[in-house]
Amino acid sequence: MKNKTAIITGGGSGFGREAALKLAQKGANITIVDLSEQTGQETVQLCKDLGVDAIFVQADVGKVEDVKKYVAETINHFGKIDMFFNNAGISGSGVRTLECSEEEFDAIVNVNLKGAFYGLKYVANEMLKTGGGSIVNTASLGGVVGMPTLGAYSATKHAVIGLTKTIAGEYGKENIRINAIAPGTNETPMVKAFPPDAIKAMGDAVPMGRLGQPHEVGNVVAFLLSDEASYIHGAVISIDGGSAAL
Ligand SMILES: NC(=O)c1ccc[n+]([C@@H]2O[C@H](COP(=O)([O-])OP(=O)(O)OC[C@H]3O[C@@H](n4cnc5c(N)ncnc54)[C@H](O)[C@@H]3O)[C@@H](O)[C@H]2O)c1
Repeated sequence: MKNKTAIITGGGSGFGREAALKLAQKGANITIVDLSEQTGQETVQLCKDLGVDAIFVQADVGKVEDVKKYVAETINHFGKIDMFFNNAGISGSGVRTLECSEEEFDAIVNVNLKGAFYGLKYVANEMLKTGGGSIVNTASLGGVVGMPTLGAYSATKHAVIGLTKTIAGEYGKENIRINAIAPGTNETPMVKAFPPDAIKAMGDAVPMGRLGQPHEVGNVVAFLLSDEASYIHGAVISIDGGSAAL
């Protein structure tokens, strides 16, 4: 991936950081986009420590002006965009769907769906100018099955899969290769803070008997973005220990 450039949204934490490290190990230069300057800059430094060039752009993916900013700063610094991990997302407060407030529903749609769309629109249009590129959208297990108490989240992740499949049909001949990932529950810092018996119970519900680790998602993202995945297009890749199979 030497001389290739990737943009990663939500790159300050979790899957975004793990994918950044994997891409940096393969030699890609990287723009890290995040709301959090502190964690975003930490990821930038970790990438630089691996010998690649990396920049941070503070942006809210749900604001179209911020999306234009992270695209413009990437073009200014690196000249082009080859890979895009369209990943930033938020979940919800965990109430049953009919109890979800309009404000919370709007906020989740704004980041998870409109933010994903804005990223696709402005990044892929740049890719089209330079002959194409590869894209991974972060959906979720909740994008392929319903997810009780996370209705807005599940709806937006189903919609991300709809965008992925539709764009795959529209732009494949112009060398935009696009896929979605559907991770199950992972041991992110938030989950790690739960009581051990709660984590065990969540793991026991998974066919493989454990939760995922964020690097297991980062590995798949780096593969899907690479030329090794050159004929995988419009796919939804489950990374969930078998949960979607039930
Ligand atoms: N953690 C899981 O178990 C899990 C499972 C399936 C899907 N997902 C999805 O994976 C993606 C990443 O999740 P994660 O677990 O790595 O979460 P995380 O909270 O560890 O990281 C998300 C990052 O996105 C950033 N972010 C949030 N809103 C943003 C915004 N509006 N603009 C820019 N940056 C923003 C946060 O600051 C954070 O650094 C999300 O889309 C999430 O819905 C997570």
